[in-house]
Amino acid sequence: MTGLPMNQDLPFDEEAAPSRVSTGDLPEPPEIRALVTEVYERYRHEDGGAVADYIPALADASPDLFGIAVVNPWGQSFEIGDIDTRFSIQSVSKPFVFALVCDTLGYEEARVRLGVNSTGFPFNSLMAVELNDQRTMNPLVNAGAIATTSLAPGATADEKWDAIRQRLSAFAGRELTMSDEVYASESATNLRNQGIAHLLKSYERLYFDPDETTDVYTRQCSLEVTVHDLAVMAATLANGGVNPVTGETVIGPGVCRRVLAVMASAGLYELSGDWLYQIGVPGKSGVSGAIVTVAPGKGGLATYSPPLDAAGNSVRGQLATKYLAERLGLNLFASVPAAHPS
Ligand code: DON
Repeated sequence: MTGLPMNQDLPFDEEAAPSRVSTGDLPEPPEIRALVTEVYERYRHEDGGAVADYIPALADASPDLFGIAVVNPWGQSFEIGDIDTRFSIQSVSKPFVFALVCDTLGYEEARVRLGVNSTGFPFNSLMAVELNDQRTMNPLVNAGAIATTSLAPGATADEKWDAIRQRLSAFAGRELTMSDEVYASESATNLRNQGIAHLLKSYERLYFDPDETTDVYTRQCSLEVTVHDLAVMAATLANGGVNPVTGETVIGPGVCRRVLAVMASAGLYELSGDWLYQIGVPGKSGVSGAIVTVAPGKGGLATYSPPLDAAGNSVRGQLATKYLAERLGLNLFASVPAAHPS
């Protein structure tokens, strides 16, 4: 065995035997509102972590910024703190661009071209000896995310960029635009991403010109959002792909659940297992300090607070998400012993 075997395809005819869902509801609105306030007060003075500075334009963000938003499947939002502050979406764009590509190619073809595994190494691999034959492991780490961008629909870089901007705008329910400052700053410093794109091209695992792909990827990461936008985007993934605020079908339910599967296994990079273990819902973080979490059928949660831990995840965001996931009942793995029906 020289590398990771492609996972087995496990066919299931959803049309012949419709899938049922396994989710319940969030608490009533007054309780959500009270909890959002409580968690904000609890963590607003937490001062661990450092604001990202490897993209120079990000270093200016105030470490005091902190915003939380929850959006339920009826489009109601519960928000507190710095909810109008705009910041670049960064890596949080990745699951949404993956959704676009799944919608374009079909989620099986997307899996074959990009991979959907978290580590990329077989169970008995000596990591330093065996490298991944497939080169890209999943759409949420930079190599796979850049390959995903290369598969966005369109024959030119402009068409791909338009498709990405439009689809992410549909997820957010408003027209998103790019931060020129972040784009210029990241473009001037992203040699590593350019290198990844060229390397992937050499392995035929990039599906468009490497320099143009890196440029579109950098634009995608520079899209400006608020914590409210991110909660609506997350709520769309929690709602079978229908934006609960605009009512628009942004992607189908089949794509939606595959995107969440990849977020669950890889959304917090090398700490994805810890995240799933402690919080129990698909999530995605970004270096601006945002974290989105999706509770299928229940709603979307977004936090924004720029100081990051050593792995690049927002310190206050992780604490607030953990607290809310417990109190709102978001953990997908939680159950209590049933009372016997007799
Ligand atoms: O490619 C980069 O480095 C950034 N545009 C995005 C990185 C990011 O958000 C990773 N976050 N944890």
